[in-house]
Amino acid sequence: MESLKGRDLLSMADLSGAELSGIVKMAIELKTGKIDPRTRKNLGLLFTKASTRTRVSFTAAMYQLGGQVIDLNPNSTQIGRGEPLQDTARVLDRYLDILAIRTFNQQDLELFAVNAKMPIINALTDLEHPCQVLADLQTIYEYFGTCQGLKLAYCGDGNNMAHSLLIGGALVGMDVAVAAPAGFAPATQIVAQAEKIAQGTKAKITITEDPAAAVRGANIVYTDVWASMGQEAEAIDRIPLFMPYQVNRQLMSLADAKSIVLHCLPAHREEEITEEVLEGDRSKVWDQAENRLHAQKALIVALLGL
Ligand code: CP
Ligand code: NVA
Repeated sequence: MESLKGRDLLSMADLSGAELSGIVKMAIELKTGKIDPRTRKNLGLLFTKASTRTRVSFTAAMYQLGGQVIDLNPNSTQIGRGEPLQDTARVLDRYLDILAIRTFNQQDLELFAVNAKMPIINALTDLEHPCQVLADLQTIYEYFGTCQGLKLAYCGDGNNMAHSLLIGGALVGMDVAVAAPAGFAPATQIVAQAEKIAQGTKAKITITEDPAAAVRGANIVYTDVWASMGQEAEAIDRIPLFMPYQVNRQLMSLADAKSIVLHCLPAHREEEITEEVLEGDRSKVWDQAENRLHAQKALIVALLGL
């Protein structure tokens, strides 16, 4: 994975299909103990939104590698008092070896990347959540032995998760069908990007308002919250609009008989997914959550060139 050394992961599209598959395979080798790299480097975590999985899995991954983690709470740094991001990025670059950022605007992340030489990782923005998709693809690969040629159906909001799944799926040759209500489709530039990648990998990208059409024959059924962080005020009004997209027993009956269910978590039971499906046999969400640890450890190893 020499090609990834020193690079940033701002978007899923920053990786080639081979690099993405390489990270997934390395994550499995780390998980099974086949490889056990070590470092004494520092990882910074700069999160302006809440996080359980991403924060704790990055921290545990870095500690398991032998490195250190520095938690940069915006409220206890000068960022919260308005110090320009360009200045913060240049200063942090002198202390840290790698930095994961969770924030609202993708442009803020890009500003950090331009002003810091160390690898910058997108730990979720309003536009994308590529670290989650590394773990998702690992989970799919572990279960099916491949990602290529499968069909993933995503039902719900055309949000950051939908975006990174569209690009990640296209990169590994997996069909991705997104079903979202009118006005909540994925961003057109992301769909265009995914379609362009899909042409080269023979994957099919489908955007529809019909959840049944998306889920029919799917190997993986995926959902996420209907209102993301920062959209809390809209959450109640969205419920009736999104209810036809709920992942429940009836919708699952249209998927392939051996299909699995994934959710990035946190889940809102009886909204985007029923308790029965989330806790049912086909749900692999706990393995998926565990894989955040292994996939991000692989990402750190690749970007630091360990
Ligand atoms: N899936 C995910 O990113 O979870 P957290 O918000 O808890 O990090
Ligand atoms: N779409 C969700 C994902 C949370 C992991 C959000 O941005 O809040």
